[in-house]
This record gives sequence, C-alpha cells and structure tokens, in this order.
Amino acid sequence: MTPPIELWICKTPEDLARHGAAFLRRQIQSRPRVNLSCATGATPVAAYSELAQWASQNPNSLHHVHWFHLDEYVGMSSRDPRSYAAYIQRHVLDPLLVPTENAHLWRGDAASPQDECTRYDTAIRDNGGIDCQILGLGMNGHIGFNEPDTPLDSRCHVVALTPCTLSHNAIHLEGGAMPTHAMTAGIATILEARRILMLVSGAKKAAAINRFFTAEISSEFPASFLRNHAHVTVMADAAAIAGHDQDWKGIRIHEAE
Ligand code: F6R
Repeated sequence: MTPPIELWICKTPEDLARHGAAFLRRQIQSRPRVNLSCATGATPVAAYSELAQWASQNPNSLHHVHWFHLDEYVGMSSRDPRSYAAYIQRHVLDPLLVPTENAHLWRGDAASPQDECTRYDTAIRDNGGIDCQILGLGMNGHIGFNEPDTPLDSRCHVVALTPCTLSHNAIHLEGGAMPTHAMTAGIATILEARRILMLVSGAKKAAAINRFFTAEISSEFPASFLRNHAHVTVMADAAAIAGHDQDWKGIRIHEAE
C-alpha cells in the first residue's frame, strides 16, 4: 500500500517558505550528489530565497547539487526575461551561485521542441534521475504544464497552452509575443522523482487542494496521480486549506511550527 501523503500546514506564506527551504536543505544534505528539479511560478519564490540565504551562510554547501526545471515556453530563449530558464537563473542559479555545469536548463528556443523534449528526458536519465521534484499546484490540477487529460505515461512533451493557464500566467508574459505552446516534464517523468515536494499557497488554491486530496485519481485532475507516489510531501499555508474539515483519507497531517 502507498504510504500516506505528509501534509504540513504552515500558518503563513512566510512559514511555508521557511519550511519549504528546510525540507530542501535536508534533501541537499542527504546525499553526496543531489538532482533537484524546480517548479517556477509565484509559490516557490520565497522558499528559493530562504534557501539562498542559508547557502550564503554555508559556503560550499551546494557544490554537489544539480538543478533542473520542470517546464519552458516554446520559442523563448533563456535571454528572454519571461522564460522559465530566466526565472530559474534569477531566483535559483544566481542567488545560489550555481556553477554553469550544475545547471540543466530547457532550451525554449530549440529548433525542434520535440527533439528538445527527448534531450531533456535523456539529460535527466543520464544524470541519475531526479532526487527531489518541487511542484506547485495549478487551479485546474495541472502540475508542470500537464493540463487535464494528460496521460499517466507522458514523458517530456510539447503542450498547447490552455486559456486558463495563459490567463493565470498573463501578468508574467507581458512585453513580447504570447507563447502558444510549452514543453514540460510529463506525468511519468515527474512520478519517477524519488521524492516530491508540493508547495501550495493562498485562498485561491483552496478548491484545488481539496480536490487534490479527494478527487478520483485520474487525468481529469493530473495532480491526483501524485497520490500513488510513495514519497510526497505537501506543504500548504493556512489560507490554502481554510474552510475544509480536513477529513481527508490517506493523509498524515502535521502542524508546522
Ligand atoms: C511552474 C509550473 C506550474 C506552477 C503552477 C502554480 O513551473 O509548472 O505548474 O507550479 O501553475 O503556479 P503558482 O505558484 O504561480 O500559483
């Protein structure tokens, strides 16, 4: 039987960032070589910043960490500040002083997005797989850019962006042509990570997190597939779980201090 999902309830977004960073620190300190794959989006920014603060006080603590990311817009080069590669550079690689050889970025402007997906899947495999996958939760249950109806066996692949995702991300996409497609680690790719940390913040995610814990496991709500993974930790702030009686099955709930 799959062990229960660990749910840590943090009082505030600041607590969420602190506990998220502490979780990542434990992953970083657990092995001689660690592959972390980062989500972008608003939720993990503060946790990355907490991690950078710790790293600045602990020089040489990250030399064994290799950094991947979940997804990228098709057609966007890493020089485009709207790209996810630029986000990772800004929020992770620069503040954590990650050497170039430890960064494994999607090439959004690759001539063939399909070939880029194959290259990225191969890069993950050739580097020994992902030890810890950091995720956010989309309001429609997407993880990465795996929108509803993405199959369980999907690997890195190209997706057409839905109006819902485009409108959620619109504010970050100003200043250039709107992308129509993205490349993302697939559901199977995500589930192969040895450990998964999903961070969820804010009242606007309350319905999604309730659905995450209660929906039937199916591609209708892609995040539900995580419930079959043996090592998933969800950290949510109080606003994200407000209004639920938390009568969720298969979940071990902890109050984070
Ligand atoms: C980002 C990503 C997305 C986000 C999700 C939540 O790389 O893959 O799935 O994690 O859309 O985004 P925020 O954190 O902005 O609410």
